[in-house]
Parts: sequence; C-alpha cells; structure tokens
Amino acid sequence: MEDKGHIIVTGGVGYIGSHTVVELLACGYIPIILDSLENSDPVILKGIKKITGITPIFHKVNICSIDAMKESLRDYRNIKGIIHFAAYKAVGESTSEPLKYYKNNVGGVMEILQLMKELKIPNLIFSSSCTVYGQPDTLPVNEQAPIKPAESPYGRTKQMCEDIIHDFVVANNEFRSVSLRYFNPVGAHSSALIGELPQGIPNNLVPFITQTAYGIRKELMVFGSDYDTTDGSCIRDYIHVVDLAKAHITAMDRLITESNKEKFEIFNLGTGRGSSVLEMITAFKEVNKVPLPFIITNRRPGDIEQVWSDTKHANEELGWKAEKGIKEMLQSAWEWEKYYRQNILVEA
Ligand code: NAD
Ligand code: UD1
Repeated sequence: MEDKGHIIVTGGVGYIGSHTVVELLACGYIPIILDSLENSDPVILKGIKKITGITPIFHKVNICSIDAMKESLRDYRNIKGIIHFAAYKAVGESTSEPLKYYKNNVGGVMEILQLMKELKIPNLIFSSSCTVYGQPDTLPVNEQAPIKPAESPYGRTKQMCEDIIHDFVVANNEFRSVSLRYFNPVGAHSSALIGELPQGIPNNLVPFITQTAYGIRKELMVFGSDYDTTDGSCIRDYIHVVDLAKAHITAMDRLITESNKEKFEIFNLGTGRGSSVLEMITAFKEVNKVPLPFIITNRRPGDIEQVWSDTKHANEELGWKAEKGIKEMLQSAWEWEKYYRQNILVEA
C-alpha cells in the first residue's frame, strides 16, 4: 500500500484515539502515538497489533512538554499532520480540579501549536465536543448554533481550545485545522480487541450498562424520568466509535489535499438521531439477550435534557456519514466488555 506519511496521534492509546490509529493504518498512514498513559492501558497497543498486523509506533510522553515531544519525534520526517486527542475528559472532576483541566487541555493545545510551528507540521485535527452547545435553542443543532456558557471547566477548555486554534491558524498562513465536535461516542471495534476502558466507576452511560450487565455493578441508575421528552429520560445522539474514527481520516485527507474551504473548519460528528436512556436500555437487552437491572433516580446535576446533531454540513461538505446504528453500537460494546473481562484481564 502507498505510504501516505506520518500522522502524530496524541492520546492514541485512549478510546477514540486507538480506533483512529486502526483506521489510519488501514488507509496507509503511519501513525506516531504520543500518550502519557495517564488514562489508558498499553494492552490496547497489543489489540491494535492483532487487528492490523502492525506494531504501532508509540512514545510514552506528556504533550504538555514540547521538549519531550521533540525528543520523541527527532527521527521522523514527512509528518503530515497531528490528530490531537490527548486531554482529560471527566466532567465532574473538572469542576473540583479546574486547574488540572486548564493546564492539560488548554496548556496541551498551546504546546501542540508551538510544536506545529517549530517542526512545520501544517495540519491539525482537534477533538471537540457537542458540550460547547449546552442545551441548544433548536434541534437538531448545527455548527452555526451559538456557543453557550459552558456547564463545566471541561466544556470551557473545549471552547477555549477552539478559539486558540482559530487564532493560531488565521495568524499563520501555512497552518490549517479542523475541529470535530463529537456527540456521544460509544461501542467498540468489531473484533472486540479494543474498546473503551474507563478507570474506576464509569461516568458515561454505555460502560455503566455493560458493567452492570456483566455483574460488576448492581444496577444502572437512570438519571431522571421527568424530562420533557417522549419517555421522560434524556436524549443523546450516540455515535459508533468506528464511524467517528473514520471521520478523522476524511478530515485529515481534506486538510492534506488542501480541500478545506476555510483555515479553521468545524464539523458536528453525530448520526442525526436522538435516543433516550430508556430506549438504550431496551435496545441493549434486546440485541444482547442479557438482563439489565436498573432503577430511576434523581436528575444528574449539569445534564442537559436533549441534544442531537444536524449532520448536513458533515455529510455534504466533509463527505462523511455515520453508517452504524444503535444495535451495532450496543452489541460491540457488550462483546468488548466480555472479551476484556474474560481474556485481557485474565492474562494480565
Ligand atoms: P481517553 O481518556 O480514552 O483518551 C485520552 C488519551 O490521552 C489517554 O490515553 C490519556 O492517557 C492521554 N492523555 C491525556 N493527557 C495527556 C497528556 N498530557 N499527554 C499525553 N497523553 C495524554 O479519552 P477519549 O474518550 O478517547 O477522548 C479523546 C478526546 O475526545 C478528548 O480530547 C476528549 O475530550 C474528546 N471527547 C471525548 C468524548 C467521549 O465521550 N469520549 C466526547 C467528546 C469529546
Ligand atoms: C458527558 C458530558 C459531556 C462529555 C461527554 C463525553 C456531562 C453533563 N456531560 O456527556 O460534556 O463531552 O460525557 O465524556 O457530564 N446516564 C444515566 N445513568 C448513568 C450514566 C448516564 O442515566 O449511569 C444518562 C445521562 O443522564 C445522560 C445519558 O445517560 O442523559 C448520557 O450520559 P453520558 O454518557 O454521561 O454522556 P453525556 O452526559 O451526554
């Protein structure tokens, strides 16, 4: 296969990063993973090797240090771009430890931009979030919707990073960037060899579902059933992580071929379809044929009622569309949970 050049993938051992590394390898790019392993396990690198047959290039390094990154990168030429996943993402923790989040997420982006400047790396894909919209005034939400005051320091770091990257690429002719606003990434690779590995008690819905079905958690708590939605539970736009990963390759190709229309572009990455928490529970039980005990509890502070994506811009301008549905998301998440517990944890 044609060698399309090196792509730096910060946070490439993490959940979305590892799935993106698999897709980059499949497309002929050579990813260079930079990850501190603060929120990931190197066992995922073995999973990538099993899927692709290739041992990915990996450097254990903190992206908050430009000197450490330069040291790791000194032997590579032809670096075409950076996909920047590395960040902290626990919303609750960001409220109690805001400085940790500003330092890593905002400080990290500043180091990445400086690195681009010093090593003359022209292209950057940034991991943003639909959290920047808060509770949108109209649904589905498109990229022109106003940015609402952030609900958490985590959300604010995403808003700040987008502004910083915008200012940087506008001021420097040779650089361009795409910010991808993810909706709710779930699921795992179809091989079940890589997937989401939350540390401790999961905050997010789907890992909590799979751990409960496996018997690690007693019951799932549904946070609120009195919202103004069809069944009273919150609605989100869940998107398969492999669909999401593929969008990064499409966006990187776009930048490398200079097909971008603006120096800083933003795309929503969702399916355009909202699912309620109760619908997710029913679908999980149906598709995997396992019981899932749950109780209804109080609303979770900071949760928005409902959000789903307007996918028109990503479909028509980026040329990307989510293909996988809720069933594939919940089936692959369950297969990964079982594989991880029965194989990876046992071997470790
Ligand atoms: P993750 O925690 O699984 O992966 C992040 C990776 O970055 C981890 O491997 C971690 O060790 C690494 N990392 C963190 N700080 C680092 C540093 N200073 N230096 C080097 N490595 C560092 O998270 P994820 O779910 O894969 O998310 C990836 C990106 O997508 C993040 O920026 C996150 O904010 C964003 N995002 C995630 C979601 C989601 O629901 N998962 C939604 C919207 C946006
Ligand atoms: C959360 C973050 C968001 C971040 C995203 C990715 C908040 C308020 N938002 O999104 O900023 O970008 O994670 O990390 O934290 N639910 C339950 N029971 C559970 C867990 C979740 O009912 O045990 C419900 C929630 O109320 C929500 C839905 O499931 O309605 C999805 O929750 P979650 O997976 O945490 O994602 P978000 O809250 O959408």
